[in-house]
Amino acid sequence: MHNGKARAFTNIALIKYWGKKDQQLILPMNNSLSLTLDAFYTETSVSFSKDYSHDTFYLDDQLQNEKATQKISHFLDLARKQAGVFEHAIVRSQNFVPTAAGLASSASGLAALAGACNVALGLNLTTKNLSRLARRGSGSACRSVYGGFVEWEKGNSDQTSYASPVASHHWEDDLAMIFILINDKTKDVSSRNGMQRTVDTSLYYNDWLKAANIDIEKARTAIANQDFQALGEVTEANCLKMHATTLAANPPFTYWTPDSLKAMNKVQAMRQAGQNCYFTMDAGPNVKVLCPKKDSETVYRELQKDFPSHQLIMAHAGKGIETLEMEVAK
Ligand code: DP6
Repeated sequence: MHNGKARAFTNIALIKYWGKKDQQLILPMNNSLSLTLDAFYTETSVSFSKDYSHDTFYLDDQLQNEKATQKISHFLDLARKQAGVFEHAIVRSQNFVPTAAGLASSASGLAALAGACNVALGLNLTTKNLSRLARRGSGSACRSVYGGFVEWEKGNSDQTSYASPVASHHWEDDLAMIFILINDKTKDVSSRNGMQRTVDTSLYYNDWLKAANIDIEKARTAIANQDFQALGEVTEANCLKMHATTLAANPPFTYWTPDSLKAMNKVQAMRQAGQNCYFTMDAGPNVKVLCPKKDSETVYRELQKDFPSHQLIMAHAGKGIETLEMEVAK
């Protein structure tokens, strides 16, 4: 029996990863830059044993179906191959989110699984190689290996595509991100399918790539200068450019709902009224508001005027991946 357990926090991209040049290896088209957060994380344990005849996957104590288990098995295969161990496994994953709002993240989930496999299989990976392994599970997971600001260097091969921390003199500790949870009944387009459809069909995709290269440079400079306004401006603008590509895809789609727009308008109105805050959005309707930590209570109270407290979650900068002690198996 080989056991391992790890905890990974989720991350939100300020400059988005949107599109792959290699779907098998999960090599992205552009560099991305994120902030790891403290409010959402996943703890995953894995036990490999020659006694198991197949892989089993429990998420939040629920046995998962074949499709969900297959995705995990595919990842386990990569880890097994690296270790030269070919035993099946039981994976138990627990998502810690303040409310049940569909916020489970593939970034924290796959990073925690990579961390657990690293321990269980005795891979002894450097953080760089752990980031590369996590990337194979879900692109954004490669950034959750580190805390604070993180940049994923796109690279051009499995060896050269991985995340690293962005030097910031702990400036991230002065920031906050408030999540506005938007209830949504529409059918999801997963980030994986959405970005591929955009790469394949969006009229604006090349312009997105050009813009993302410029935006990431601006974000790096803003972090180096600890310039909140510059970081906020490029964060919001980059998100809008990413979302613009989906409207020009075929068939077209959007992650925005009327309430997402309400939230985005609110943030812009608050800014016009002198508040220091900017939004970003990912492959779903939730809106995330970046602001200085010292202003976060004021921003939160202002958002409460339009969104009930159970739809608001305050987050701050989070840590990198951690190894955990495994409870004795029952
Ligand atoms: C919009 O990492 O979920 O959140 O690599 O296909 O698993 P796969 O995609 P995923 O995509 C995240 C897309 C995004 C932007 C970002 O996190 O950079």
